[in-house]
Amino acid sequence: MSESLSQSQYQVCIAGTGSYLPERVMTNADLEKIVDTNDEWIVSRTGIRERRIAAPDEFSSHMATKAGLKALEQAGISGEEIDLIIVATITPDTFTPATACYVQQQIGAVGAVAFDISAACSGYLYAMKIAKRMIADGTFKNALIIGSEKLSHFINWQDRTTCILFGDGAGAAVLRRAAPEEGSILATEMGSDGRLTHLLNVKGGGIACPITKENADDNLVTLAMLGKEVFKHAVTRMKESAEKVIERSGLKPEDIKLVVPHQANLRIIDAIADRLSVPNERIFVNLEKYGNTSAAAVAIALDEAHRTGRIERGDHVVMVVFGAGLTWAAAAVRW
Ligand code: UT7
Repeated sequence: MSESLSQSQYQVCIAGTGSYLPERVMTNADLEKIVDTNDEWIVSRTGIRERRIAAPDEFSSHMATKAGLKALEQAGISGEEIDLIIVATITPDTFTPATACYVQQQIGAVGAVAFDISAACSGYLYAMKIAKRMIADGTFKNALIIGSEKLSHFINWQDRTTCILFGDGAGAAVLRRAAPEEGSILATEMGSDGRLTHLLNVKGGGIACPITKENADDNLVTLAMLGKEVFKHAVTRMKESAEKVIERSGLKPEDIKLVVPHQANLRIIDAIADRLSVPNERIFVNLEKYGNTSAAAVAIALDEAHRTGRIERGDHVVMVVFGAGLTWAAAAVRW
């Protein structure tokens, strides 16, 4: 599913970004104490060295709000001026209302429309596409999109194939109508393949498999993954998705200042860089510090890249993600 600029009434830019990481650091050495693993294996197979773990009373909406306020500050826009809030999360505070509604309350966006989307690690770029479309057609003026996850809540800390991978955090961006001389989101793309739901999921917690003591004891309310299969699909889909937005925005690989990929595994990122013919120094990686934070990962990475000067006005940036569903998405932006 894709769109081009010609369908849009207004161009849409990223006016500000923000992120938030919980204070508590969990290193690979910490994991060695609770599960049969070691730093050498984790670093060589994933690139991850540490991850952040949210406090017991710190929820996805709290992290989302902190990231969102930073994005608002950078954009020079107040909470009251935001008329659309989309939170991408698979770890909502409550089933209902949406985590976005708690964020709305916490940032004082009294007149906004607020809702969540569930597309796992792809959620932030799904949100970007939806918000872009709704600003481009004149429905909204200023949107706050956020990826926020407390994945530590759904981890089986005895499963060494998953517990080493994930972390908590939030990333946000303010999207608004762009003036002609400003940068804009050039192309977006997204897709899903529901034939592959079995590869990565949390079975319990919904109607099909309610939270009961038995289900919890059977580890049905924690994340399960067939890592090798996910790996293969991730490389193929992210490559295809990135290529589509690069082509649709009229870019060549050498025009791209930075690729900001989903931060799941350094070997996946290296494989994609190779297939896209983009040199490693133009690929943004921060997974060594935060692990895989699902919908928050690319949002946090984009904010860090921006705030550390890796992205400047006029630069072309490509983001590409992949997650449970399976889902995938990409966006090309002129900053
Ligand atoms: O955001 C959603 C997207 N998710 C992903 O992108 C995840 C994609 N998959 C991956 O990143 C990788 O498949 C993993 C990092 C999960 C696993 O890496 P792998 O190279 O595919 O390892 P493997 O599953 O083939 O396991 C190799 C060996 C096995 O031992 P044997 O059977 O060869 O004796 C595992 O039991 O490594 C063992 N192993 C571990 N050893 C130490 C698995 N996990 C660990 C561990 N520490 N944490």
